[in-house]
Amino acid sequence: MSTDKPGINTRSVHAGAEPDRLHGAVSVPIYQSSTFAFASTAQGAARFSGDEPGYIYTRMGNPTVAALEEAVTAMEGGHAALATSSGMAAIATVFFAYLEAGAHMVGTDAVYGPSRVIVERHFRRFGVQSDWVDTSDLDTIRAAIRPETRMLYIETPENPTLRLSDLAGCAAIAREHGLLLVVDNTFATPVLQRPLEHGADLVVHSMTKFLNGHADVVAGVIVTATEEQRRTVRDALNHHGGCIDPHQAWLVHRGLKTLGLRVAQAQRNAVAISDLLHEHPAVEWVRYPGGADFPQAGLVEKQMEGPGAILCFGVRGGYEGGRRLLEKVTVPTLAVSLGGVETLIEHPASMTHASLGREAREEAGITDDLIRLAVGCEDARDLIEDLRTALDGLFEPAPQEVRTVPA
Ligand SMILES: Cc1ncc(COP(=O)(O)O)c(C=O)c1O
Repeated sequence: MSTDKPGINTRSVHAGAEPDRLHGAVSVPIYQSSTFAFASTAQGAARFSGDEPGYIYTRMGNPTVAALEEAVTAMEGGHAALATSSGMAAIATVFFAYLEAGAHMVGTDAVYGPSRVIVERHFRRFGVQSDWVDTSDLDTIRAAIRPETRMLYIETPENPTLRLSDLAGCAAIAREHGLLLVVDNTFATPVLQRPLEHGADLVVHSMTKFLNGHADVVAGVIVTATEEQRRTVRDALNHHGGCIDPHQAWLVHRGLKTLGLRVAQAQRNAVAISDLLHEHPAVEWVRYPGGADFPQAGLVEKQMEGPGAILCFGVRGGYEGGRRLLEKVTVPTLAVSLGGVETLIEHPASMTHASLGREAREEAGITDDLIRLAVGCEDARDLIEDLRTALDGLFEPAPQEVRTVPA
């Protein structure tokens, strides 16, 4: 069967991974070199002026990094990708490239905490203004736009509330007002959602999460839709300095090749866990884009190819009940981060989103009882059994609380 474009798994396996020309190595070699020799002074000058392609210095580009960037570009359907030392380096580089003194941006209120804090605390010192609103409501976005607004920054699904924003709707508003639409696609991954296809300008990822997938690397990436954006972001990254290390890039590229398989398995597990949580009497509420009660099911259908592998929920007993659950489960690891092969469980209000402060969290719907479960690739049976046992025993007294009747 011939198709216009290879499928997403074929792209993740083959893009940027041609056998090496020198020895035919099937795995892309790790060019662990900070600098690259010029054959002559003329060649050095030509590389710096851009008249001749080729590598100069790893902060500005590296063949192992380029192979990873090619794979991410192919998967997101972009023009180019630039890998960075962390997800925050990717996000900070985009803000650094596009926000000047006096500029204003509108962002999703429930984003990964530091993505908002960097603007409100740090870019503010340089005169950048921001409003963080419920971007699932297009009228709320319109109302927040000012003449000096330059950027609309969204996370969909949001971290950790899993609310969605309408990508095509946001892109239409961005076009109408001349804004740059930047989408953090970390939660969905290009396997489930490709924002550029819906009109976004730039996509960012924490590759620390699903793209790498093995909880052993911190990395990020910026995907551009045009050559002009690539040049702008490249220039910012070259000077800002948040480049990725070649070995780190190689690890992420290796992980990327199984992204489709991992997302499929983790998503199957998440669906099974969502069913358990929906029926268990110790659970007060569940939010999962694949749940029958998910209020934005139409948007999942419209812009995603699956509901993903992250759920949030609250149990009876609020924060205290949640704290007990986190300490009772044995298969999920109590740790922040997500998107790895191992299931992780955390409490955003005291961990990933603590830096937002209570008021911002409450406005964004990040309640104190919210537990985030980032489902991994274990066997569903083991995850279900472990969670059910923990939920069943949630209100059993802890050993130190057992009272003995005095003789
Ligand atoms: C949605 C999202 N974006 C960005 C980041 C930041 O990525 P990193 O930790 O790789 O800097 C995170 C980290 O948790 C995240 O969850």
